[in-house]
Amino acid sequence: MVRAAMEGIALIGLDGNVTEANEEAVQMFGFRSEDELLGRNALELLAQRDRKRAMVDIQEAFQEGAVRYIECSLTRADGSEHPAEIRASVKRDASGNPVGFIGIIRGTTEREWSAQAAQKAREYAESVLDTVRESLVVLDAHQRVISANRFFYRTFQVTPEETEGQLLYALGNHQWDIPSLRELLEEILPKNTSIEGFEMEHYFPNIGRRTMMLNARRIYTEMNRTEMVLLAIEDISDRKAMQEELVRKEKLATLGQLAGGLGHELRNPLASIKSSAYLLNRLLEQPDPKVKRALDALDREVLACERIISSLLDFVRQRPPLQRRVDINNIVRQALSRANIPQNVEVVSQLDETLPAANADPDRLGTVFANIILNAVQAMPEGGRLIVKSEVPDPDWAAFSFADTGVGIAAENLPKLFEPLFTTKARGIGLGLPMVKTLVEAHGGTIEIQSEVGKGSTFTVKLPIRREVA
Ligand SMILES: Nc1ncnc2c1ncn2[C@@H]1O[C@H](COP(=O)(O)OP(=O)(O)OP(=O)(O)O)[C@@H](O)[C@H]1O
Ligand SMILES: [Mg+2]
Repeated sequence: MVRAAMEGIALIGLDGNVTEANEEAVQMFGFRSEDELLGRNALELLAQRDRKRAMVDIQEAFQEGAVRYIECSLTRADGSEHPAEIRASVKRDASGNPVGFIGIIRGTTEREWSAQAAQKAREYAESVLDTVRESLVVLDAHQRVISANRFFYRTFQVTPEETEGQLLYALGNHQWDIPSLRELLEEILPKNTSIEGFEMEHYFPNIGRRTMMLNARRIYTEMNRTEMVLLAIEDISDRKAMQEELVRKEKLATLGQLAGGLGHELRNPLASIKSSAYLLNRLLEQPDPKVKRALDALDREVLACERIISSLLDFVRQRPPLQRRVDINNIVRQALSRANIPQNVEVVSQLDETLPAANADPDRLGTVFANIILNAVQAMPEGGRLIVKSEVPDPDWAAFSFADTGVGIAAENLPKLFEPLFTTKARGIGLGLPMVKTLVEAHGGTIEIQSEVGKGSTFTVKLPIRREVA
């Protein structure tokens, strides 16, 4: 930028009022003509905060007869301020008596001044934006990144050099190239719309799968008279996960109450159906084969109902797990031997015999493994292989995995598996895995699932083995 400094000159009388001024001085103070400036009190032409100091400087100039440089801001006719430096010296008449003083004012030109103000405003805005704990990106009309705040660079682990000037969609391996987002962003400027609360789930190369909430609106700056889009990106993954967990727990609690009540209520009528069937069986000496079949069916289905009720009640009973010193491998073996594994399913058992004893509740872990094994068997209606493994990945943890070669789980179902009542089975209830998760977590453990449709699934339960049970 050309530093076109100008120099204004004003003569000030002993009364402190302006007596003469050149055209530049008139301009600097923002007046239209010299007349408007003449007669004004010189101190009042300075910013309020500078007046006292200027007064002292001027007095000293008088006393010492020296030149003083006063750095101050001029108050312009429209009330705005204009930084300047005034060189003040005493003006004397022919016989050397002071008659006033001369002020030579060096100010910045209009252009320079507004550029400085703009720069300051920009620095200020940037320093504010850099403290925001949300990613902010400013885009031009063609969705090119003009700038982004520090939080954005930190979150997405990219640098300004590889970001600024780039199309938003081209950033980081096209991670933002999402058609629905593109459509919304491209509408903002032409249609003066905004994006509010747009949620997107996406895999980001540097940070993994996250859920982001996007807000965007048009911004316009007087400064460079261009329209831009301010895009705010908030990572809501943790909040969402917490909300989902809360919903799951609430569902479980409501369901528990309902199931508990229902289970108790159904037990009595079921018991009387069962005993009536038994009585009929006894009373009919030689029943018709059709009647016999019907009675057998009654027996069988009552039993099925009882199983459902027991599992509901098991699920409801939220007593804390026992802490007994147990060999978890043994619990796995028992669960396997109790399970009704059909002939066409081959079980491969790879248990790590060095597994140390751990504190756990054997019945509850038995329920955990039984449910996982049952699901695995049900996933292999045509037969297959179930590999059961135990491992000690590090001294504090034991991992138990159950890998089947069954139908696998569709990706969209994976997040729902632990939701109570989620089932894909005609006769399933959808309580197995929610119960498994609750019990595993009560032991301070975790459960993970890997699955591929058509290939099979692996359920891995990790349990702490040295720590006390929570
Ligand atoms: N090993 C597996 N392979 C494929 N899908 C599975 C496997 N384990 C669980 N699933 C899926 O997860 C769903 C939920 O399992 P969950 O055990 O909670 O309920 P369920 O087996 O359907 O009913 P139940 O309450 O009788 O256990 C199943 O319906 C099934 O779609
Ligand atoms: Mg199940």
